[in-house]
Formats: sequence, C-alpha cells, structure tokens
Amino acid sequence: VKEGKRVAVERYLQDCKQQVDAYLEKLYPPDPNFQSLLAAMNYSLLAGGKRLRPSLCMAVADAFGVHHDLSVPVAAALEMMHCYSLIHDDLPCMDDDDLRRGKPTSHKVFGEATALLAGDALLTAAFEQLAKPLPGILAQQQVKMVHLLAVNSGVFGMVGGQAADLAAEGQAGSFESLQFIHIHKTAKLLQASVMLGGILANLNDAKMNALSEYGLQLGLAFQMTDDYLDIVGSTEQLGKSVGADVLMDKLTYPRFIGLEQTKQLAEQAVIEAIQALKAEAIHAPMLVELAYFVINRSS
Ligand code: IPE
Ligand code: IPE
Ligand code: MG
Ligand code: MG
Ligand code: MG
Repeated sequence: VKEGKRVAVERYLQDCKQQVDAYLEKLYPPDPNFQSLLAAMNYSLLAGGKRLRPSLCMAVADAFGVHHDLSVPVAAALEMMHCYSLIHDDLPCMDDDDLRRGKPTSHKVFGEATALLAGDALLTAAFEQLAKPLPGILAQQQVKMVHLLAVNSGVFGMVGGQAADLAAEGQAGSFESLQFIHIHKTAKLLQASVMLGGILANLNDAKMNALSEYGLQLGLAFQMTDDYLDIVGSTEQLGKSVGADVLMDKLTYPRFIGLEQTKQLAEQAVIEAIQALKAEAIHAPMLVELAYFVINRSS
C-alpha cells in the first residue's frame, strides 16, 4: 500500500471516529437512577476502538453526498451494536476474555449482570438511533435500516454466527462451517454497515447488491485478519489478549489452513470486494482504501 494512501485512510478513520465519538459522548450523561448501567454503557462505548463499522457507513454516505447530520447517528447505531457484541463476546460463558481495547473487560469491572445488561441496552439503543425522527430522512428509509440491521445482527446473522462459533470450539470443523461462522458472526454486521450508508443515499437495487457483496467480502477478510492477528499480533497493539483463539481451540482460518493461506484468502476477498464496486461503476476511492486497511492493519 502506498504511503500516501495509508495516511489518507488513517486520517479518514480518525475523522469519522471523532465525529461518532462526539455524538456518542453526549448520549448518556450520568443519571443517579441508572448509575452503574450507564457507566458500563459509556465504559464500552467510549473505550476507543477503530470505529470501522461507523467509518464504512460514513464512507458510503460520503461517496454519495449524504449529509453527516444523517450518517453520524446511523454510524453511532452500528457502533452500539458492535459494542454490545463485544461485551457479550467477552463474557465468561463465551470467550472469557479479560482485556478489550486495552482495558479490563466490562464484566471484570462491573460484574457479569451489569455487563450483560449494558449489552442489552446498547443493542436496543442501536435501533432507537435508527428509528428516531431525523429531519431529512424518510420513515421508509428508517424502516429499511431497522429491518436490515435486525436481519444481519440476529439469529440468521451475527447472533447465529456467535452460536456457531461456540459450538465449533474443540471440533475439527469443515471449511464450510468455518466460512459460515465468519460470514455470520462478523461479515454480516460489516455488510449491514455499508448497506445502511446505501439506504441513506437511496441507492438503486443494483448498487445495493454491489455494496452487499463488497461488505460481505470485506467482512470475511476482516475476520480472517482478526484470526491472523490473534497469532502474529501483539496484545499491546490489539488491546486484547493474543492467543485467545488457540486457548479456546476456536475454529479459525489459521488453524484450518495455516497463516500463509489465510493471508492469501483475505487478499483475494478484498480484491473481490473492490471488484464488486467496479462492476457497478461505484467510484468510491475511500471504500477501496478501507478494504486494504482491513487486511493491512496491525490493530
Ligand atoms: C473485533 O472487532 C471483533 C470482531 C468482530 C473480530 P474490531 O477489531 O473492529 O474491534 P474494535 O472496535 O476496533 O475494538
Ligand atoms: C467476535 O469474534 C465476533 C463478535 C463479537 C460478533 P472474536 O471472538 O474473534 O472477536 P475478538 O477476537 O474477541 O475481538
Ligand atoms: Mg468470539
Ligand atoms: Mg472473542
Ligand atoms: Mg478474534
């Protein structure tokens, strides 16, 4: 990747992060009636992170001239959904992790019950954000967004993927089950992220299908890289404990096909993601750069 492009994509991510963080920071001021729950929600929401899902949504919206007043709340909803999934993913009954985004995991700080509820509240709040009245957006678009996010994050999306991920622990597995897990637990939310940007921009079916394919391939590449970094990355840079997948005997790409082939497949998925945009003449250089960022990142 050329140095200039790397700088541009990092600046873009930084910029999106700033806008989304500013929005999120205002949502939940302290309230004595809901003290520990709000504290737990803010702890996870404002703990950093790459903000990749918000940035993907905003990059699509930006490519088609959607105003940030519309894209930032939708981007924030995606980050809420993601944060909920991380809190629950780290629970002792799931991946049992102690470190997330360089800090102790939610249940370590607030206890399991509050962590669970903070996740529940963030999941619900994501839909609240999508459905709340906003000047400049049609109710029809909002229903589409709520529907898409629900489908991609529910039983036939992320939650179903998480169930399959747990069921595959310690199992030999198959390439089909590996792909199923990665598509569902991770790619579906990334796919929803780009498609929500497309809904905001009122894109036609052909363009939405192209974004759907781009998001799916990018999402696969993202989780392959997550697996890869769990082996070759550093706990310090990732902000989560490396080697966690090996410890839990997770069905991952490196375990199934080795590190080298994992990297190759991730690159191939990124090429397919970019190809899907080209085929529909979607000219969005930042979406291309974000796709490369997904496989070249070290955190
Ligand atoms: C981690 O996601 C969870 C997965 C789906 C692999 P990210 O790597 O996007 O985590 P943050 O948001 O940057 O912390
Ligand atoms: C998490 O996958 C996917 C979701 C949170 C939906 P991982 O379990 O691989 O994510 P990390 O490695 O803990 O961030
Ligand atoms: Mg997991
Ligand atoms: Mg995990
Ligand atoms: Mg992982």
